Amino acid sequence: MSTLTKVLAEEIRKIEETKFMERDLFPHRLTHHLMPPAGWLNDPNGLCYYKGRYHVFFQYSPFEVKGGLKFWGHYSSEDLVSWRYEGVPLYPDSPMDCHGVYSGSALAEKDTMHLFYTGNVKLDGDYDYINNGRITSTIHVESTDGIRFGVKEEVIPASQYPEDYTCHIRDPKVWKEHDQYHMVLGGRKKNDQGAVLFYRSEDLKKWEFDGELTTEKPFGYMWECPDVFELDGQKILSVSPQGVKREKYRYQNIYLSGYFVMKEEKVQAEDFCEWDMGFDFYAPQTFLDQKGRRLLIGWMGMPDADEEYQNRTLEEGWQHCLTVPRELRYQNGKIYQYPVEELMNLRRWEKKLSQEDREVEIEGAFDLELQLEKGSVKVVLTDVFTLEHKDGILTLTMNEEAGAGRSSRNACVEQVKDIRILADTSAVEIYVNQGEVVFSSRFYGKTPVHTLKIEAEEFRGGFWKLEKMKIIKA
Ligand code: FRU
Repeated sequence: MSTLTKVLAEEIRKIEETKFMERDLFPHRLTHHLMPPAGWLNDPNGLCYYKGRYHVFFQYSPFEVKGGLKFWGHYSSEDLVSWRYEGVPLYPDSPMDCHGVYSGSALAEKDTMHLFYTGNVKLDGDYDYINNGRITSTIHVESTDGIRFGVKEEVIPASQYPEDYTCHIRDPKVWKEHDQYHMVLGGRKKNDQGAVLFYRSEDLKKWEFDGELTTEKPFGYMWECPDVFELDGQKILSVSPQGVKREKYRYQNIYLSGYFVMKEEKVQAEDFCEWDMGFDFYAPQTFLDQKGRRLLIGWMGMPDADEEYQNRTLEEGWQHCLTVPRELRYQNGKIYQYPVEELMNLRRWEKKLSQEDREVEIEGAFDLELQLEKGSVKVVLTDVFTLEHKDGILTLTMNEEAGAGRSSRNACVEQVKDIRILADTSAVEIYVNQGEVVFSSRFYGKTPVHTLKIEAEEFRGGFWKLEKMKIIKA
């Protein structure tokens, strides 16, 4: 460790120690969502299963609650419900990443965990940092224990990226296919079109450009955090596009995250399907676990949306969280997402809900399942939100205080057959029709006590309180 790294490590240790002690004092701290120990969190990074543990790394600014210089933070778990905070494995402490250890991914092999990320460097001077003044190279580090990482090696220098791209090329996702390694990077072309770049390698060290992919009709100016994977035999490209015009029933957020079902290695703008219709979802990443499941975790936040709302956790010295891990399934031409079954281990049975029993008093985190036989449905969590299905549109409306500036989000859903609501102290994930449509949003209630009211013609349901996930410090 260099002297600079040692100083940073000590400062982080101190700030995390204080915040870790205080963490239960703040009303908005979450019970089953991963949060930054202190300061700011954004994208999930380096998701993998390695030597008996799940690893979740994340973009982390421990000193700046509104984001700033990026490090990687790290949680690990055996069972996805009890976690160990492993500390900070990557610091912006080299000339290749001194302005940020940006997003990236993991490749878990038998003996070695490889991480690939973008080193962000901003030159001093009068630059726009889009077309000039920024150097972003692809960096590789490896580990045999999944905790401590070795020397940083630049595997793709910025000078080797194609000429028709701006300086915005980043977020390597690496995978192995037919005995070859592949990488996809997100980028902004000089003509302001979002695209992804492919690279391939025999040894994870030497990477060769392998073409690009974008839509015929431009779909935003930048594609961040790409991911390529196969799901039930279908090849999928996931990206987080910026610069897509907002609409009433889709593309409602400033930036989007969604996927294209790839057809003959091509993608079409009209086929883009959003992962999540809520206010807070961005930059997801997937990985394959040891059970053969394709799991997805997203950042439950939204960049550059400060003008739209005031996140109440700022006053508590922290900001943002990750979604719960979701299992993916491909069916009828689309992807369904559902909370991993391990989360059921946090459930404590409360009661059945039915026509006769349609109200429940709640304090704290809960899990709710509703099966609907027919007709319209309305679910109200007093002082927090209303979820209502009417004329083919499902709308999530936040109460004024709880929404902190955000009002409503819509999704086109012909029929609502079932709803699962996973609610934390200040975050909610709503899964409709077994995960065909999902809404993820932060909320800031005045009190932790609410009443849940259900209005539907015919329904059955179950209601569980949720225990807190255990989080320890390594
Ligand atoms: C997405 C993103 C990535 C980048 C990282 C920096 O939220 O902008 O493209 O690598 O965040 O924190």
